[in-house]
Amino acid sequence: MTTPVAPGKRPLVGHGLGFGLKPLEFLNAQRPLGAVTALTIGPWRARIINDADLVREMLVSRPKEFLKEGPLYELSSAFVGNGLAISEGPYHRRQRRLIQPAFSRARMPQYHSVMRQAAEEMTSPWSDGDRLNVWNDLFHLAVSVIGNMLSPGRFPREKTERIVWAVATASAGIGWRSVTPAMWLHRLPTPEYQRFTRAQQILHAFADEAIAVHRSRKDAPEEHFLTILLGARDEHGDPLSAKELRDEVVTLFSAGSATVATSLAWALHLLSHDRKADETACVEIRDVLEGRPVTAADLPRLEYLGRIVTEVLRLYPPAWLLPRITQDAAELGGHVIPPGTHVFFSPYSIHRDPTLYPDPDTFDPDRWLPENSTSRPRSAYVPFGAGVHQCIGNNFALTEATIALATILPAWRLAPVPGARVRIRPRALLEPDGLALTARARTEETK
Ligand code: HEM
Repeated sequence: MTTPVAPGKRPLVGHGLGFGLKPLEFLNAQRPLGAVTALTIGPWRARIINDADLVREMLVSRPKEFLKEGPLYELSSAFVGNGLAISEGPYHRRQRRLIQPAFSRARMPQYHSVMRQAAEEMTSPWSDGDRLNVWNDLFHLAVSVIGNMLSPGRFPREKTERIVWAVATASAGIGWRSVTPAMWLHRLPTPEYQRFTRAQQILHAFADEAIAVHRSRKDAPEEHFLTILLGARDEHGDPLSAKELRDEVVTLFSAGSATVATSLAWALHLLSHDRKADETACVEIRDVLEGRPVTAADLPRLEYLGRIVTEVLRLYPPAWLLPRITQDAAELGGHVIPPGTHVFFSPYSIHRDPTLYPDPDTFDPDRWLPENSTSRPRSAYVPFGAGVHQCIGNNFALTEATIALATILPAWRLAPVPGARVRIRPRALLEPDGLALTARARTEETK
């Protein structure tokens, strides 16, 4: 049996304005209206899936009915080709099978030293009292991790700068193009178009060079990320083509840099306002590491820090709104969804549902203690999505965030700049707008 979809608040005039101006408030307001709500955004008919279990059903049990296709993915293909983050169907399944081994949990320890070094390099120019451009520092950190993971020697700072610029330019360009349906506008030879094209060239050239250098190496380690990609064979014995390899390397930078940087920026923001959590984390890190740099073996023992990272991703999931599209008519939770409908779900809105998380807007790492979390359904936590498209870099991201915090926090307390107002800016990711922190060196007494 089917029931009508609950309408959004202003079905006659469309919802583009409310959604465009205050999307997070808009999404939160949809939840009480029903498990599935209907809205119109410009020329598009859309549905929002507000219920966590229905989102899980869509992603895990019925991905073939709700496809990862549509304008956003078409625009992204200018950069990532048909890379894993935007591909669908049998092609996606093949790519995922070939690439997955490079991201297995067992592979993570080999990335630890580049992650730790990047955090050390980020903090080495800091001095007591410095006002930091934290977001910029963290974006460089995340790009440098991937750059160093792909390169035989140290990845030069100058290349990191260029890739940061290219990823940011690509993301901004895709952002405005996705809300400007007139395709001819996208290709006007404006300065923006030239920057967009330049960003594409930088990312493609870097990927091609990294692959060529790796192919020519006689000493490439077996477990190296690119060795795994170059050695991967599908069921017909075919390797990834040069174009496919490039797409996947560019995908790494675009999917795996700003996401991690944003999470870390929110973590430092939250800790700057919560002295108790900051000190509890520092005591734990000091007890576990005893002054040593963090290693693979330490991570399972940094339990409180792990809960901080989990809670940060609950409150501020970088990928806050994710789209799907129906090819054929579909039915979800008793609601009929016509073919060609844009279907959205929001990890942000699910994570702020008071029926799943008491006091949902409060930062509370201890809500992840086993005694406080075992009764919570699995569907309630989706910062990395779920099902066939679940983030392939989830272990990588969690490891990188934990290592970065375990390196930064023992030496530095980040204090909010008085008067600074941090707001959530929902763009491609959930960015912290106005984040300003001062570095305070921890003395022996405050360590
Ligand atoms: C905190 C950091 C991160 C967050 C919150 C995040 C979030 C997500 C989410 C929600 C998805 C699923 C999108 C969907 O279902 O439409 C996804 C997919 C993906 N992510 Fe991440 N991600 C993070 C870090 C990374 C990193 C570090 C990498 C790589 C180094 C990465 C690579 C990818 C790829 C390739 C996909 C596509 C997977 C597929 O469709 O098979 N991500 N990510």
